[in-house]
Amino acid sequence: MGWAHSPTVYKIKPSQQVSIGKLFDRASNRVNMEYPEFPDDAGYTSIRDVLSGKSGKSVKIRGWIYRTRSSGKLAFVVVRDSTGVIQCTVSRDKVAESDFDGASKALIESSVILEGEPVKDDRAPGGWEIRASKFEVFHFAETFPITKDQSDEHLLNNRHLWLRSRNMVSALKIRSTVFKAFRDYWTNLDFTEIQSPSFTTSACEGGSTLFNVSYDDENEKSGQKFYAHLSQSWQLYAEATMFGLENIFTLAPSFRAEKSRTRRHLTEFWHGEVESAWLHNHQMMELEEGMIVHILEEVLSSNRAELEVLGRDASILENIKAPFDKMKYEDVLGKLNSMGFDLGWGDDFGYKEEKALTQELKSPLYITNFPREKGFYHRPDPNDPKSLVCHDLLAPEGYGEIIGGGERVWSPDELIERIKEEGLEPESYGWYLDIRKFGSVPHSGFGLGIDRVVSWICGSEHIKHVIPFPRTMRRTTP
Ligand code: 4AD
Ligand code: MG
Repeated sequence: MGWAHSPTVYKIKPSQQVSIGKLFDRASNRVNMEYPEFPDDAGYTSIRDVLSGKSGKSVKIRGWIYRTRSSGKLAFVVVRDSTGVIQCTVSRDKVAESDFDGASKALIESSVILEGEPVKDDRAPGGWEIRASKFEVFHFAETFPITKDQSDEHLLNNRHLWLRSRNMVSALKIRSTVFKAFRDYWTNLDFTEIQSPSFTTSACEGGSTLFNVSYDDENEKSGQKFYAHLSQSWQLYAEATMFGLENIFTLAPSFRAEKSRTRRHLTEFWHGEVESAWLHNHQMMELEEGMIVHILEEVLSSNRAELEVLGRDASILENIKAPFDKMKYEDVLGKLNSMGFDLGWGDDFGYKEEKALTQELKSPLYITNFPREKGFYHRPDPNDPKSLVCHDLLAPEGYGEIIGGGERVWSPDELIERIKEEGLEPESYGWYLDIRKFGSVPHSGFGLGIDRVVSWICGSEHIKHVIPFPRTMRRTTP
């Protein structure tokens, strides 16, 4: 469709009352809309193109003021758009008086439209500057509440404005590549993308991190309070859906009422999950390795500039190759205890343990054969029933767990036994048990914490730096 990027502008008087049907010109497939103040849509160059030296002798750009200073005769206005920043010099004797006035008065984040000649200049950031011949301030900004060196808390309170920062923009571009790479990888393997509900009544990952939402019908007079939970994982629904489609994936938010306030915990995070029939744990692990390598390749090919803005050394990511190292839980226990921890069989690894384990690593590490206590749905190892046929994948450089996955208990009898063993009630897993009564098969799956992967790839200090509006136990605004 044409929309705002169409080079052609259609003229319809704003006063004219038109129906949606008329607005949309079916023959030309374009929307006919024009506002009197809306600038001409044609002929803009992106700042990236100007910086690459490929633009013409005169360019027109539009964006926002990133930095500005001026003397009586000359204004240096650094302008940003979504593709980069460039310095523009606005000289009093080269532009109309009102243009110079605007350029010297406008505060940062004012939106501007300018024309001028790109000139190579090694002193300018990016090696190019634009000598303006026209400079229009489209909208004068008020004093921007974010200045240099402000606290994390201030930036979080002003997240709706901080999203314009180069760091946020770079992280969000990398995030977008990761989402696309995840989708492409599984789609190319012929997996079908499927959605599961966010309102559920079952606990997939234990009761301690469940969010309750009141799910009452206001008209209901029974007086009985009813709650639903927010989904911690699509997994139980995936296992049902898998019997029809065999190979499936999703990309959706999951919710955890996380008590832990670490650099890697959100209460609402984005979960890439996969489930596959007839597939064993070790086969799924191989596919996951391929996925991680694919994600890294895509980021390296699309986001070099963004990695640089974030100060992330790309060579660390370039050197990651499959297969990844693997360690059994038992051996990890030994290793951690030799580092001064005091852990016994059955203990969970938290952020502290995983940080110590992965701090010096350059490549991801699999941990396999977790103890039986890890979860009711994992299949106990037939050769070593105290452990499970499952895995976690830990990111290097101290980041820790990014994937949890494994082979599922597929026999209905064994599943009932496992549910009871965990002190849960088989009755509350009614339909989940039901799906195993009709031609059950071995199957495996996993969940990837997308925000955690992005945080690791960006070399970020905290997961909240890589999601537009982070949600934690202490924050649901803006
Ligand atoms: O290890 P988890 O709890 O596994 C599951 O939910 C399985 N049911 C997935 C499956 O097999 N389909 O969560 C999977 C991943 C973790 O490895 C982690 O990367 C991420 O989800 N994750 C979180 N990310 C951010 N904030 C949180 N609070 C997270 N909790 C889990
Ligand atoms: Mg886990």
